[in-house]
Amino acid sequence: MMVTAALSVATIALICQFTLALPAETQAVDASVDFFPVANGGGSMLDKSGGLGEPLNVIISAKSSPTVLTKSGLTLFAQAIGFSTECLGLHIGDPQTANLGDGNGDVNEMGVWRADFGDIGLGTCLESLEGGNHFRAWTQNGSSADSGAIFLAVSKEEDLSQHHTIIPDGYNIGRDELVAAAVGTHKHPLLPLSFTTTSASLSGLLAAGTQGVNHNISQDGIVKLLTVTMALSI
Ligand SMILES: *[C@@H]1O[C@H](CO)[C@@H](O)[C@H](O)[C@H]1NC(C)=O
Ligand SMILES: *[C@@H]1O[C@H](CO)[C@@H](O)[C@H](O)[C@H]1NC(C)=O
Repeated sequence: MMVTAALSVATIALICQFTLALPAETQAVDASVDFFPVANGGGSMLDKSGGLGEPLNVIISAKSSPTVLTKSGLTLFAQAIGFSTECLGLHIGDPQTANLGDGNGDVNEMGVWRADFGDIGLGTCLESLEGGNHFRAWTQNGSSADSGAIFLAVSKEEDLSQHHTIIPDGYNIGRDELVAAAVGTHKHPLLPLSFTTTSASLSGLLAAGTQGVNHNISQDGIVKLLTVTMALSI
């Protein structure tokens, strides 16, 4: 009862949401590949946000645990490494789109996850006010390149007074902070789950520099490939 009393209503709602949502959601995964290069199918490693784009600088491999490759599972993984869904479900700004070369063309992001400042219930509200790291995500699941991998656009932002612009070098910094938080083994803060992540650096997928990149912020063209294994940890 002590533990229950210490949990906020928002936190309990989150647990219910995920334990109910997990079994229902599946993602067909082609675990023989990490992902399919998007250029093969006319896609782009830059998403689209009002003309210019943000780099898709992290890929979660299709060789990850299938649960992690669903929206609910991605959220659980994100919570284990210090991110959560947006403040009270509020979304600031229009959805960005990406074309992952899988035959689906441009599709809206499936969501935005933000640094949670140590509170998975309300911490993302602080991120919305104070700025911080965040990512958008898309699943490569169109019929012509149906890997099931998830592509992330990660960047670090200024606070709201700066209208959520990306900080200088915010693409490289955001990516590297997310990867540093993810590698190794991390337990979910509330549920008996652990996530073990390995990382590899890929070049040749994304051009380095500012060409086509939002906010004229240069990025180094490195894409990090994460392979995430989920396990019960009791
Ligand atoms: C592809 O992934 C998105 C995002 O998770 C999902 O909304 C959509 O239903 C999936 N499509 C198929 C064909 O599985
Ligand atoms: C982009 O930044 C470079 C310096 O990094 C500057 O020379 C250039 O004028 C900027 N372009 C725009 C459109 O702001």
